[in-house]
Amino acid sequence: MSMLKDPSSKYRAFPAIDLPDRTWPSKTITEVPIWCSSDLRDGNQSLIEPMDAEKKMRFFKTLVQVGIKQIEVGFPSASQTDFDFVRRLIEEGHIPEDTTIQVLTQAREDLITRTFESLKGAKRAIVHVYNATAPSFRRIVFNQDKAGVIGIAVNAARIIKDLAAQQPSTEWTFQYSPEIFTSTELEFAVEVCDAVLDVWQPTPANKAILNLPATVEVATPNVYADQIEWFGRHISRRDSVLISLHTHNDRGTGVAASELGLMAGADRVEGCLFGNGERTGNVDLVNLALNLYTQGIHPGLDFSDIDNVRKVVEECNQIPVHPRHPYVGDLVHTAFSGSHQDAIRKGFSQQDANGIWEVPYLPIDPADIGRSYEAVIRVNSQSGKGGITYLLEQEYGICLPRRMQIEFSQVVQKETDRLGLEMSAEQIHSLLDSEYLQATAPYALKGHRLQEENSTSAVDVEVISKGDTQHWRGIGKGPLEALVAGLPVDVEIMDYAEHAIGAGTNAKAAAYIELRVDGGRSLYGVGIDENLTTASFRALFSALNRSLKQAEAQAA
Ligand code: KIV
Ligand code: ZN
Repeated sequence: MSMLKDPSSKYRAFPAIDLPDRTWPSKTITEVPIWCSSDLRDGNQSLIEPMDAEKKMRFFKTLVQVGIKQIEVGFPSASQTDFDFVRRLIEEGHIPEDTTIQVLTQAREDLITRTFESLKGAKRAIVHVYNATAPSFRRIVFNQDKAGVIGIAVNAARIIKDLAAQQPSTEWTFQYSPEIFTSTELEFAVEVCDAVLDVWQPTPANKAILNLPATVEVATPNVYADQIEWFGRHISRRDSVLISLHTHNDRGTGVAASELGLMAGADRVEGCLFGNGERTGNVDLVNLALNLYTQGIHPGLDFSDIDNVRKVVEECNQIPVHPRHPYVGDLVHTAFSGSHQDAIRKGFSQQDANGIWEVPYLPIDPADIGRSYEAVIRVNSQSGKGGITYLLEQEYGICLPRRMQIEFSQVVQKETDRLGLEMSAEQIHSLLDSEYLQATAPYALKGHRLQEENSTSAVDVEVISKGDTQHWRGIGKGPLEALVAGLPVDVEIMDYAEHAIGAGTNAKAAAYIELRVDGGRSLYGVGIDENLTTASFRALFSALNRSLKQAEAQAA
């Protein structure tokens, strides 16, 4: 078996929706939808190992903490674990005042009855009933005509209404899903839903939920938006209905479909955290919510500690979140390309604390979702100077001069190539230390005496070389020039920079010198000391030793 030369012999294009006056393309999302988590139902159904009661409880509490107010907690007529879990939630009082649980049932009397049993004593509940409406299901799976499908839905709606009336202490909301909505003829989807509404008689004060699932995602997301807008225009009692989206992600556009569906007038979204769910998953509620957030709209959900939410979800689902997952993946606040790192570093340094977020390549401030700046940049063999420079500045207050950034990044790259791993800020700092600050051979600076008169400096440095003590003396216009004059080799200083590290009595000076020995390749040296002159002398010795070592290596 292999891919077909002509896939049209096997697959058909999804037909466009006839809606020339569609309005959704020019809309923007300004309202936060009602969020409904289906993690404990759709998500749970699709796990290799469905959650036990403890995991379900842990997940439920996390959903409550995040701020999701409608939670589909299970399929109690299909699973004893789910039935017991619903009972436990109600009997042990785990459902907060502002949160409504939802349960799913098939459109069969025995199952609906069992579902209502599971909900006894609930203060509030959404009963969610579904049956498949698409032509392929009518023909292939159920051998039902349209009237038969409407009959199943209407019968279930009646039973639900009657059973609800028998448990009047619960505040009921009814929800109907024409399963496989996206492949159902739109006129027929409206016909079935209208028939259900005729039974339920919802009002603006007590709305019914019509959930329109992309049970399988079969078309581009604009088609789903057209279907939602078309449905919203044609359904009766629009003011007594909440249109709910339930997109799966078979084509990888579940998030886009829900976003366009909201633009097309939907009121509510069902999905799962980080996109768990059947096959390719349900729409990712975190992704949707944070997309809204980055447009300046608070989604009403709290992902301030997104890593903790992810930990709970990963442990309950036993499925890891992909490292490239939007907003939460391990690598998504990381820039590997040097030019990206550079731009990010500049963005951070120019960021106004009270201003609009404008850091290149980062659509969200990682700090808003509990990710730290330390995690923003990692250094590996593909990294350029930006990340390295940023980490040294942030962690150690060391600001390398521009040309040295390039030089040191090559040193780091050699090391990451050798290790085949990322380097932490600490490892980078220790590499800077061993490569520059510990460059004390062949000449180790032991100490110096400095005499200054007017603008002339006379310096006497004590140097240890191969166990011998030497004294080099020189005179110049400043200490550094005097030292250069006393060196036994000919050097040319190409660049000099200095800055303070820290403040007050603990402050240190960092000095950087780029020099060229005997017309060779220029190299940097670094010196850090409490005393600025000592720091600059150390920098010079560091550069000198590195240059001599390099010349020696080249000669060998
Ligand atoms: O994807 C789907 O169609 C469902 C229904 C049960 C709503 O999960
Ligand atoms: Zn689903």
